[in-house]
Order: sequence, then structure tokens, then C-alpha cells
Amino acid sequence: MTRAEILDLLAVADPSALYARADQIRRENVGDAVHLRGLIEFSNICGRDCLYCGLRRSNRKVDRYCMGIDEICAAACNAASLGYKSVVLQSGENERYPTENICSLVRRIKQDLKLAVTLSIGEKTREEYAALRAAGADRYLLRFETSSEMLFGGLKPDSSYEQRMRCLAWLRELGFQVGSGIMVGLPGQTIEMIADDILLMEKLDLDMIGIGPFIPNPQTPLEGAVGGTLDLTLRTLAVIRIVTKNAHLPATTAMGSIDPIGRQKALQCGANVLMPNVTPTQYRSSYQLYPGKICIEDKPGDCFLCVSGMLKMLGRTIARDPGHSLKL
Ligand code: 5AD
Ligand code: FES
Repeated sequence: MTRAEILDLLAVADPSALYARADQIRRENVGDAVHLRGLIEFSNICGRDCLYCGLRRSNRKVDRYCMGIDEICAAACNAASLGYKSVVLQSGENERYPTENICSLVRRIKQDLKLAVTLSIGEKTREEYAALRAAGADRYLLRFETSSEMLFGGLKPDSSYEQRMRCLAWLRELGFQVGSGIMVGLPGQTIEMIADDILLMEKLDLDMIGIGPFIPNPQTPLEGAVGGTLDLTLRTLAVIRIVTKNAHLPATTAMGSIDPIGRQKALQCGANVLMPNVTPTQYRSSYQLYPGKICIEDKPGDCFLCVSGMLKMLGRTIARDPGHSLKL
């Protein structure tokens, strides 16, 4: 698809035909089964100061925690008991967990529980990524957030667009299944930038693409900014499905947080993955990138019942395999 065609679709007056087309392409390329990835938010400590994020180091109002290795393993075990075939280990960027410790954690989860392991722990050196891969980590999520270098520079003071791209290239070279993505509705972001984001996703040949609306956090410098809409997020999702065909696309928590049926809508216009939270309830309220996050009071089993009911209502099934990349 050309940039002009993408722009036309993003701006179409009535998106219902776009959604139907994305739903059809999803059905043909990835089927009706939805992959469930248990999300473990194991630490909210972060050394970075991204302007949009509630966990930024300057936010003194966050009660910081870091789960112990045994506690993380117990959460992964809980995910396995709920039937999930894969877990996502996510945290702020911090040095509390030496890479060797994460490596042994990964080995333990792989050996004892036979789960696919996805890491979402930010920018590391090539050597660190290599060690994590050698330990058995299957996948890595690192959103590029925006393909506009200017926007990126203004939002992420401790990183650079160039470094982000370098990290994504390393992850690819090292044999990870690579996930990336963006926020929709960032201050200063235009529809043209989103078209370029989609072209970049295509060029990077991503295995997974996670997108969500930007939700302004009152504890950040972007309090008072206008957030992203579900409408534009769903349009973007639908175009990504049409362009990438068989990438794994989650109906994200942020979509469910700005609209009570946001994730359901996403599953009907391109999404084929859900990431139910398996973080112990006591930590959930401290892991708020944005306000209004869903599932804060829920237990892992509650989220399982919620998503399985959701899928049943939509006439979709739960995938029984780990949901590896369909591009391999
Ligand atoms: N609103 C929506 N999404 C956010 N993220 C971080 N802060 C926000 C926010 N305020 C997203 C980023 C990050 C992912 C883990 O969460 O895209 O990569
Ligand atoms: Fe957590 Fe619905 S997914 S309660």
C-alpha cells in the first residue's frame, strides 16, 4: 500500500468497510483463535524520564516496587495454571535486575513451565540482548513509539530514535521474534506521521505490533494534553492488519482503558492477541503508565474469566499453541 492509500484509509469518513476488510484479512491470515499472553509487570522502577509515562523517574508519587525472582516465577506458574502458553515479563528500565538474573529467570520459566517467554524491559546493549536470547527468551517487545525523529526526541529525553532503531536491528539479528509499535494521538503527531509509522512497521517486518491510544497522565508534563481517540487507534490497527497480513496484533490494555469495549472492538477490526494481566493484585495500582488503567483491583483468575467470556461473546476461540510468529 502506498502512503497516499494509507492516508485515505486513516481519514475515511465511515470506517465500517475498513474494519470489515481488516476483520476478513485477520480471519484469512491468522484465524479465529486468539492468543493469550500473561503479562507480568515485575517492577515499576525506571531510570528514564519519558514525558508521557507515569513511571518516569521524576514522578515521585509512585510507590516503587521490584518483585523478587521467586515471586516472578510464581506469577509465571500462575499464568501456566490458567492455561496461558506464553508470558510477557515487563518492567521499567532499571539496574535492579542484573542481566544474568533475568537470564536465569528465563531459563527457569522455560524449563519448568515450558512457556514461550517475551521480554519487555527496554533498551539494552547488544551483549545483554545476546545473553537473554541465549538463555532462551523467544521474543522482545520494544515499541518505537513514533517514527517522527522530532517527536521522539521531544518525548524521550534519555534515548534517541537512532538508538531505538539500533536496538530493534540487534533484536532481529539475534533471532528474537520482534514486537514494536506506537502510541496514537501523541501531542504533535499528525496522520501523516501515523502513515509513516505504518510504513516503518512494514519495513521492519515485525512479528508483533502493539498500538494503543496515548492517554495523558496527570503526574507527567503531558497532563492537560489531548489524548488519542479509540476511533483513530482502531483505524490505525485496521490498516496495520491489511498491510502486514499475518503479524500478531494485540487488543491492548490502553484500548480497553479508554473504552469499556475497546478491546472487543479491536478484536473485530484486526487484533488476534490479548494480554491478560497476571501481576499479583497488590502491585497493579503502582503500575500505571496512564490513568484509568483496567484490572487494577482484579486477580489473575478474574482477568482470565473476563477475557474468556469476552472471546466467547465474540465467537472467537482461545489458541492452544504458544502463538509464535507466523513469519518464521
Ligand atoms: N498512554 C498510553 N500508552 C502509554 N505508554 C506509556 N505511557 C503511556 C500513556 N501515557 C505505552 C508506551 C510503552 C508501553 C509499555 O506503554 O507505548 O512502550
Ligand atoms: Fe482483567 Fe477484564 S481483563 S478484568
